[in-house]
Amino acid sequence: MLSRRGVIRLGAVAAGAAALPGTAAIGRRGRAWADVTAPPPFSVPLSVPETAVPVRRTATTDYYDMTIRDGAAEILPGVSTPIMGYEGRFPGPTIRAEAGRRVVVRQTNAMTHETVVHLHGGLVAPGQDGHPADAIAPGADRRYVYGNRQPAATLWYHDHSHHMEAEMVFRGLAGFYLLGDRRERRLGLPSGRYDVPLMLRDARFDEQGRLLFEMDDFRYRNTLLVNGRPQPYLRVAGRKYRLRLLNGSNERYFTLRLGEGDGDAMTVIASDGGLLPAPVTAASVTLSPAERVDVVVDFARYRPGTRVVLHNTDGTDDATTSVMRFDVGHRVPDFSRVPERLGRAHDLGEAVATRDIAMNLDLSTGRFVIDGRTFDMDRVDMRIKRGETEIWRVHNRDVQPSVPHNFHVHGTHFQVLDRNGRPVTGHEAGRKDTVAVPIGGDVRLKVRFDRYLGRYLYHCHLLDHSSMGMMAQAEVIA
Ligand code: C2O
Ligand code: CU
Ligand code: CU
Repeated sequence: MLSRRGVIRLGAVAAGAAALPGTAAIGRRGRAWADVTAPPPFSVPLSVPETAVPVRRTATTDYYDMTIRDGAAEILPGVSTPIMGYEGRFPGPTIRAEAGRRVVVRQTNAMTHETVVHLHGGLVAPGQDGHPADAIAPGADRRYVYGNRQPAATLWYHDHSHHMEAEMVFRGLAGFYLLGDRRERRLGLPSGRYDVPLMLRDARFDEQGRLLFEMDDFRYRNTLLVNGRPQPYLRVAGRKYRLRLLNGSNERYFTLRLGEGDGDAMTVIASDGGLLPAPVTAASVTLSPAERVDVVVDFARYRPGTRVVLHNTDGTDDATTSVMRFDVGHRVPDFSRVPERLGRAHDLGEAVATRDIAMNLDLSTGRFVIDGRTFDMDRVDMRIKRGETEIWRVHNRDVQPSVPHNFHVHGTHFQVLDRNGRPVTGHEAGRKDTVAVPIGGDVRLKVRFDRYLGRYLYHCHLLDHSSMGMMAQAEVIA
């Protein structure tokens, strides 16, 4: 049995004692800087998660069956690492959905402990959203119905178990859910093999190559993975690619810069919730945990043979500043394009109310709290009327000690107005479901729930924080 109270009590300190079955012994090692020799950067090829195949298709619906189970993955070359995975894989299979067509996923829990599946960024009914109260018991299954009534976007699915999401996502329970639509296809953006999802995250391994999870252990998670491979390389043709970047880390931020010097321009085309109204050129993009950004990069501007490194300028050493490398090949014909107009503007209109939401580490208890309280799934923390726009001012009060937080809302896409009073730009001006909240500062969001009544979570998506209580729920009322 898992000890949920243990996780909370241990708070910001290591919670090895609360580790999942079969992993308890791993959490007790000393905090050596590097427990395993990672391969030299850019020595393993990138892999792209396989696409899930429906077991059945009807005129309206694609049906999938997935089993959530313990498995093994070759993350470090030649090393078999125990993981938890959808279909036993890390990352899980990619679900490709089409707006207007339903997706029904039957998830069977073949693990020895509970799990629950959340579609991050999906506008789904509360009962399909993967609320921690709707856990799938070991041996049981649950059908998730996703209506896909929202614009094309890079979404992802991951575990959301009560107090355990940090460890379970860390151990592999995450996959892409790529939603397309007609409008997007008509634009002529790079597609097919030139549309590459990239799940960026960090990990920590012990000397035997097992994932080593300790709560809030971000300093020691120093191996960067892309789609489950350490600092890989990808051979690309000399043409345009769409790169769908997801920060799948529990706690690490990425500031991504392509190439050397000030960075080679990337064309930002989409944020969490889908296409921006117009492309934006950027030399770097910052992603806090769970954020997505889609960029188009034209590798035709490099001479064949050029090696272009994707850097993380938030990194502190070689292991954490080099994310992956693109090895540019010959030019090929390229009929894709990035039009001047992309998606619809996301304007939530006049707000009728404002509220403040405060996030902090409560130093007297060692707990991560929202408005002074840890998550209680039986408590409703706010009520909001369906169809009414509100301004939420979200504060990060953790100046001393300084702790980064971000803010994620289920069941809707919000509009970020400003951060510390300054308007946001680039991908942050698009449809968002997750946003960074600066230390000692605030972000203001326009939020509106348009569709379903019921309870939706909001929380810090530094998953170790949410697992330790930094989560709350809103009830959407008529
Ligand atoms: Cu990525 Cu509450 O979710
Ligand atoms: Cu979510
Ligand atoms: Cu946080």
